[in-house]
Amino acid sequence: MPGKLPLPALHKVPSNGLAKTPPMGWNSWNKFASRVDDAAVRGMADAIVSSGMKDAGYVYVNIDDTWEGERDAQGNITSNKKFPDMKALADYVHSKGLKLGIYSSPGPNTCAGYEGTHGHELQDAKTWAAWGIDYLKYDWCGARNIYSDDEMQAVYQKMGDALHQAGRPIVFSLCQYGRADVWKWGPEVGGNLWRTTYDIRDNWDSMMKIGFSQSDLAQWGAPGHWNDPDMLEIGNGGMTDDEYRVHMSLWSVLAAPLIAGNDIRSMTQNIKDILMNREVIAIDQDKAGKPGRRVSPEGEQEVWARELSGGGHAVALFNKSSATAKMTVKWSDAGVKRTPKKVRDLWSHADVSASGDGWTAEVPAHGVAFLRVE
Ligand code: GLA
Repeated sequence: MPGKLPLPALHKVPSNGLAKTPPMGWNSWNKFASRVDDAAVRGMADAIVSSGMKDAGYVYVNIDDTWEGERDAQGNITSNKKFPDMKALADYVHSKGLKLGIYSSPGPNTCAGYEGTHGHELQDAKTWAAWGIDYLKYDWCGARNIYSDDEMQAVYQKMGDALHQAGRPIVFSLCQYGRADVWKWGPEVGGNLWRTTYDIRDNWDSMMKIGFSQSDLAQWGAPGHWNDPDMLEIGNGGMTDDEYRVHMSLWSVLAAPLIAGNDIRSMTQNIKDILMNREVIAIDQDKAGKPGRRVSPEGEQEVWARELSGGGHAVALFNKSSATAKMTVKWSDAGVKRTPKKVRDLWSHADVSASGDGWTAEVPAHGVAFLRVE
């Protein structure tokens, strides 16, 4: 195995100016894992347009692990036979008004055992730029056998510099499972988002454990660089619609990237209504870019709130228990300082009474009531 390479002294990588709001798009891993290929990505791009996902804001079409081929005689990375022509695929995705993302690792190999960038960082960044790649997810994986967590920042900085030098605007997504307090140095290496946890699974326990553990990280997210509690599982079948509404609401309160992970070609209407709820997406994409946090005690029922641009607030009442719960929020506890002019229920798409000093709702088991308070 190739050994340690000299690491650069730490410095600040210039900002690429991208991801002023949390990135939105689709990624192949959660649904397809190693079964992703050129035809699936083209089909997904078509479906992102025809389903309305593109108009709702989902623009990045991201290929995760298993696209990689061998290096050629000059050391250039190639794609394997599932992806006969990456440049042609990028052209196709771009022709739909969408953007193409790719995946790699700073190690000699990726998590799935494919070729990583180790020792070829700038060369690979230039190859991706030439293909027309718009987004890179860079996964620690194979690097963990070579470098320690203390060296992570320098290792990621190397790719940040390489992307900068390659000269194409490419969103830089750090995937190292929230180790080494990445939120403290992610922006320094040019990162636009960084994973804060290990991998999500398509079940309530996994989604809930990840999502509800993010409150203390709120201070680290801001326009251009975001906490990433991992991609969406909405539509993959392992949760109920109420649970997926919790997933979508919580990720929006957190100002998390909204990267769908389901088969966009065959979504039910219920799943479309969740992923394309424009009023919820507007919370996620709020331009002030201030992640929300828990404003109640931690427990079976929790209230979370997020400050919005223009003085409004998003307020979410989450019921984690397996029975319907009557929940009340007092506006002042959610940071709302004045009597609201308007309160909107973002899942029933209806205005609700704004009189009084708060709101009470029957929240379904494993469910949410989500409000926009102006
Ligand atoms: C890691 C990442 C996942 C996915 C796989 C691919 O587990 O955290 O999101 O990219 O690798 O091998």
